[in-house]
Amino acid sequence: MKINILTLFPEMFSGFKSESIIGKALEKNLLEINIVNIREFCYDKHKQADDMPFGGGAGMVMKPEPLFRALETVKGKVIYTTPQGVRFNQKLAIELAQEEEITIIAGHYEGIDERVVESKVDLEVSIGDFVLTGGELPAMMMADCIARLVPGVIKKESYENDSFFNGLLDYPHYTRPAEYEGMKVPEVLLSGHHKNIETWRLKESLKRTYLRRRDLLVGRELSKEEKKLLAE
Ligand code: ADE
Repeated sequence: MKINILTLFPEMFSGFKSESIIGKALEKNLLEINIVNIREFCYDKHKQADDMPFGGGAGMVMKPEPLFRALETVKGKVIYTTPQGVRFNQKLAIELAQEEEITIIAGHYEGIDERVVESKVDLEVSIGDFVLTGGELPAMMMADCIARLVPGVIKKESYENDSFFNGLLDYPHYTRPAEYEGMKVPEVLLSGHHKNIETWRLKESLKRTYLRRRDLLVGRELSKEEKKLLAE
């Protein structure tokens, strides 16, 4: 899969591209992350990427011409990061991970000229009800979330147990030592009894979801086993 990110601040992505799981996925060519510097498509002497808003007001608006030109160099669905967009979630990430190529425009300042949105953007996406200084972090966040769903990037079992994959929050995790300063790992996890471990994990997931995010359970059908566990 190829993820293009159009940005005025390409340096922000250098750590993202070189570290950890994403770094390894790029090395193995499971994934391509193409950072496009919008400024390279500013053809005036000062390479001006933004300008004052028509109608007045605070802040600057990203000019249309460089964005239209930059978008000519990429393919696939175009996503624009903005607090006005639909809320990003795991379901959308799973959908986008099926695409061969996508492009994310990281907006900055007051945003981009609306003509670009109207004629080129397929989806406006927000990462939450708060305002950041720019779309670079949202673009990185979405790229990270989508990238780990690309086959081979992480083990399938890893994301199948994710929070939200089955509509529930994740269960608690423990590693060695089995006891630290009197704090013990739940006995069942040391038992080697796979069925009991699975049941314990599902029960913990259900408990957490019920206590912390009851909204996730609304409209979600419970399986027979889940109903039984909730009743216990
Ligand atoms: N740009 C600034 N704030 C944002 C947000 N919450 N989501 C997406 N893009 C943004």
